[in-house]
Amino acid sequence: MTAQELRQKYLDFFARRGHQIISSASLLPENDPTVLFTTAGMHPLVPYLMGDAHPVGTRLVNAQKCVRTDDIDEVGDATHHTFFEMMGNWSLGDYFKTESITWSWEFLTSAEGLNLNPKLLAVSVFAGDSDAPFDEESYNLWLQVGVPAERIAKLPKKNNWWGPAGQTGPCGADTEIFYWSGNLEDVPASFNDDNDLWVEIWNNVFMQYFKNIDGNFEALKQKNVDTGLGLERVTSILNHCDNYQTDLFLPIINKIEDLSNEKYLSDKSITRSMRIIADHIKAAVFIIGDPKGVTPSNVGQGYVVRRLLRRAIVQAGRLGIAIKTSSAWLEEIVGVVINIYASVYPELIENKIFITQAITQEADKFQRTLENGLKEFDKLNVENNLVRGNDVFNLFQSYGFPWELSEELALERGWKIDRAGFEAELEKHQALSRTASAGKFKGGLADNSEATTQLHTAAHLLLAALRQVLGDHVNQKGSNITAERLRFDFSHPEKVSPEQIAKIENLVNEAIGKSLDVVYEELPLEEAKSSGATGVFDSKYGERVKVYTVGRNNDKIPREWDDIFSREICGGPHVDSLKDLGSFKITKEEASSAGVRRIKAILE
Ligand code: SER
Repeated sequence: MTAQELRQKYLDFFARRGHQIISSASLLPENDPTVLFTTAGMHPLVPYLMGDAHPVGTRLVNAQKCVRTDDIDEVGDATHHTFFEMMGNWSLGDYFKTESITWSWEFLTSAEGLNLNPKLLAVSVFAGDSDAPFDEESYNLWLQVGVPAERIAKLPKKNNWWGPAGQTGPCGADTEIFYWSGNLEDVPASFNDDNDLWVEIWNNVFMQYFKNIDGNFEALKQKNVDTGLGLERVTSILNHCDNYQTDLFLPIINKIEDLSNEKYLSDKSITRSMRIIADHIKAAVFIIGDPKGVTPSNVGQGYVVRRLLRRAIVQAGRLGIAIKTSSAWLEEIVGVVINIYASVYPELIENKIFITQAITQEADKFQRTLENGLKEFDKLNVENNLVRGNDVFNLFQSYGFPWELSEELALERGWKIDRAGFEAELEKHQALSRTASAGKFKGGLADNSEATTQLHTAAHLLLAALRQVLGDHVNQKGSNITAERLRFDFSHPEKVSPEQIAKIENLVNEAIGKSLDVVYEELPLEEAKSSGATGVFDSKYGERVKVYTVGRNNDKIPREWDDIFSREICGGPHVDSLKDLGSFKITKEEASSAGVRRIKAILE
């Protein structure tokens, strides 16, 4: 079964059980200070898990684009990826454990689903502790569907609890499903989570708690189900091959074979290089090609893209691909990646030229960097054949040299690098995706405090004011909001002058001074667009979206606005009125990346 077929089968299976198919949200999260990228399907759905009504209903199913960068150094083995798709079915206060467990089992073992041999499956449930009780209900449900008791492990919070990654957020016990990836004859009678041949394939989280700022678990407004099934992993299991031999990767690997004249799996280090190139370029294509795409830069998300591309280029050099003479090889790989996903993620086709240019430009820039850095490397003062961690870090910081490159140059000279020392330096300086390792601590949740919500509303006011003062070419390119400040990236070709800043602040403060209302309605996407709403249109036609309007509302039905200040497609949450927002102040205006400016602002 191909990944394309699996994705569709999953969506259809749950659609037949009353779920609405929703499209993947953007990879670049809104209003969430805890992560740089969407790391799990639940991430964009947090407001709805917390109790807001979702525009399409209480049963949803999707495949979500995800990026996790915390395991970037593991990429190169058969299973780790930076970009992957997570399939999920969702109950927002609708069904709970019975349906969730029964349907998962049915999907995995029946002919309507994957037809897996039940003898190769095992599960784990939450054993209970002082915060929450043993999940006896799930335990009994697994017995009922036919899982033998010795295949049901009871495990502690470390294994069978999900979230939150931030200090506060929705969370709950989970039950996990494992598949025996070894030979049929060797499958053990009982399930032991320490045996690596048992591979986790599905995680059903029963989100019913909210972890508050004191670390206590309160009941959420509603009981939710959040499940996650890794598309790459399950495809590889169904086909008895490694992830890179599935239809999600094989065309890329074949292209790299052609370009390098080497064979996948012919040698350990060749295989590793090919996997890194395939994984990293794919992730870069998705991040740049996202509806809210970002280009390579030295900060935040843009920095991750830069790092992915540079690492891929270093590996391509190792395979003997002519990286110095032209970047045509990159264009070819980008084309292959886009082809694999074109039918599911049309944004990649729409943004193909933009993606290709961003990637080849970065490659050219890196080429110059390499030449300069090489000169610096030769000046290093190396004692005992060990390149100091600090030096590796400085090369990295000032010249964009990935540690692999320093290592390679060191090897050529018969030296080693102090990798631990480099990492300690790096940790001090760079905060990448702040989630802990995948599989252990699986995502990041927004902080839903009052102060954050107010700043989120202020971000809408800012965008409206920017468009009034600078023009309609201004679009949001990303935002990051903590309880202390908002950070807002937007498209604009030049510096915003002090006079313009003052005008923007005044407009926002005027709106606040009028105590305008903030109201949302749910509209089909087309209607939202034609009503003049700004925002990221990453939904499909016909899908209903939330539109937040800030204005004066005379509260007649149908609702009539006397004065509209801002109208934006957005998932929320927002304040109901601007009356308590205080005074808006821009504290900084700077360049973010080419054609993108960044504003930091506070409410006083
Ligand atoms: N949020 C859970 C995970 O990431 C289930 O979707 O595994």
